[in-house]
Amino acid sequence: MKKGFIFDLDGVITDTANLHYIAWKDLATMMDIEIDLAFNERLKGISRMDSLERILVYGGKENDFSLAQKETLAEEKNKHYVELLQDLTPKDLLPGVTEFLSAARDYQIPCVVASASKNAPFILQKLEVFNMFDAIVDPSTLKKGKPDPEIFIRAAEAINLSPKEAVGFEDARAGIEGIKACGMFAVGVETTESLEQADLRIKKLNELSVGDLLQK
Ligand code: G6P
Ligand code: MG
Repeated sequence: MKKGFIFDLDGVITDTANLHYIAWKDLATMMDIEIDLAFNERLKGISRMDSLERILVYGGKENDFSLAQKETLAEEKNKHYVELLQDLTPKDLLPGVTEFLSAARDYQIPCVVASASKNAPFILQKLEVFNMFDAIVDPSTLKKGKPDPEIFIRAAEAINLSPKEAVGFEDARAGIEGIKACGMFAVGVETTESLEQADLRIKKLNELSVGDLLQK
């Protein structure tokens, strides 16, 4: 019997991957690096600084910038990304999210956000679902990013559960890997990537019944 739900944000609650892509693509172009949507898949679930590193390696420019310069570049990307986030509304929630969170509440099942995004609280407010969550893991307090399981362990701790007592929802391979590494049941939300490692694979949250999932 499961007792808590742990959600990734980007790609599970809302689809901000494209906004990240627009902001990274602009920054990459400024550095003479060409990225495409296929490459963008490799940035899903990856922290801001690690994403920048991956872009620099991809463009063969990993030794061209100091740490201070990289921090400035990451800040610039974030400024652009936050501008793009201003237009988010509850209409940007992925199908079935509101219904699923409401059903979890009816069952008195706590819900936690485990996202690498430092913008998660702001995004949840714009989507008007901030109050549906019992906790949000602060990614700036983590030692390691996904695929390390740390964020999922911390999310379970926030609601006083062991990872085995919770269900984790993820759209990125790095996330599924982290969920499985701590023995949590993994639901893979397959948008573009196929997630063979997940215990259950769905396209949208509205395919799931909270009652059935709690029996896993
Ligand atoms: C999520 C996204 C990544 C993003 C990361 C950090 O995991 O999938 O693409 O890089 O969050 O987001 P932030 O909003 O802190 O830059
Ligand atoms: Mg994601």
